[in-house]
Amino acid sequence: MRKVWSSPNQTGELMSVRVLILGVGTVGKGVLKTILGKPEFSVCGIASSKGYIYSENGLGQEALKQMAAGKKMSDAADFKQGSAMELVKEKEYDVLIELTTTDIKNAEPAFSYMGEALVRGKHLVTSNKGPLALHFHELDSLAKKNECMMRFEATVGGAIPIFSTIRDYLADEKVGSVKGILNGTTNYILSRMFEERIPYATVLKEAQDRGIAEKDPSYDVEGIDAAAKLAIIGASVFGKKNAYSEVKRTGITHVTPEILELAAQRNYRIKLICSADSKGMEVSPRFVGLSDPLASISGTTNAVTIETGSAGPLTLVGRGAGQNETAAAVIADLVNIEKNTR
Ligand SMILES: NC(=O)c1ccc[n+]([C@@H]2O[C@H](COP(=O)([O-])OP(=O)(O)OC[C@H]3O[C@@H](n4cnc5c(N)ncnc54)[C@H](OP(=O)(O)O)[C@@H]3O)[C@@H](O)[C@H]2O)c1
Repeated sequence: MRKVWSSPNQTGELMSVRVLILGVGTVGKGVLKTILGKPEFSVCGIASSKGYIYSENGLGQEALKQMAAGKKMSDAADFKQGSAMELVKEKEYDVLIELTTTDIKNAEPAFSYMGEALVRGKHLVTSNKGPLALHFHELDSLAKKNECMMRFEATVGGAIPIFSTIRDYLADEKVGSVKGILNGTTNYILSRMFEERIPYATVLKEAQDRGIAEKDPSYDVEGIDAAAKLAIIGASVFGKKNAYSEVKRTGITHVTPEILELAAQRNYRIKLICSADSKGMEVSPRFVGLSDPLASISGTTNAVTIETGSAGPLTLVGRGAGQNETAAAVIADLVNIEKNTR
């Protein structure tokens, strides 16, 4: 594996890992806040959609603190208008942290940013689903060819360590299937419909008012977000080649309080379940027996059950999104890269 910062500087100290952060929105600010307390990392560049700031020896802590607290990057004295690609392609750094807006139709421009960084031998951490759902194997091949690490824990299940559990803890296990609740918005809607016996449209409005669902909720309620996450699992755990297009997908828009009630009378809950194994991948509302740990997952919580050969089923439960939760997964990946490449 490429060791880019292993050599001590002239005074014998180990150099800090230079990170370039693309995207300073909800997740980017969370990552900045945490990184500021970690002297082993130095943020040398940050980009948004309009421009960037960069300093080869690391940006000043005060400026970063202000940005983490919400100050606009464009107000910084050294702000330059331009594309983030200029930074990715031309500047020096060790790890690219890619946290820009996701696009599930063509994955751009994030896919190009990631590809360019890997070609240049830079390690990659991302929370951005689109590029991995659509192009996992291209990015994985580039990472291997250029001896880079690619980490993407934050793309699926927020703070739940799905990929590191499979990669590290279950390294010697054959994973038979992965099944879970991976979209908090739809789980919230189904939970509220069941608890209050109220129709889909009423709960959707409530979720939108509470900021849990978007104004255009189709990405969540039609199962698109869940399918993108499942595709990343399908590609990385089961080697699926065209993972996103192979996911069979049904959303929750046709679920009624009556169906939920009928399921309850027979000791089932209805959940939007994502499942993947070597045969295929599916996102759909399904009957879940009360003895299944997924049946009791309510609200915006996520959960995933990993079926293994000798360790049996393991269920991990946690918050599937949010600034601190997603940032925690990004930082865990960054620390993992630092530990593996020093
Ligand atoms: N929020 C969560 O809880 C969560 C959880 C898991 C995964 N994610 C994923 O993490 C990523 C970031 O999410 P977020 O909630 O932080 O999004 P966000 O608040 O909308 O922030 C997105 C950031 O990306 C920047 N950006 C957009 N297009 C860009 C471009 N072409 N080049 C450079 N920067 C660009 C934006 O810049 P401007 O401000 O200039 O527009 C903004 O700083 C997304 O892919 C999202 O799906 C989020």
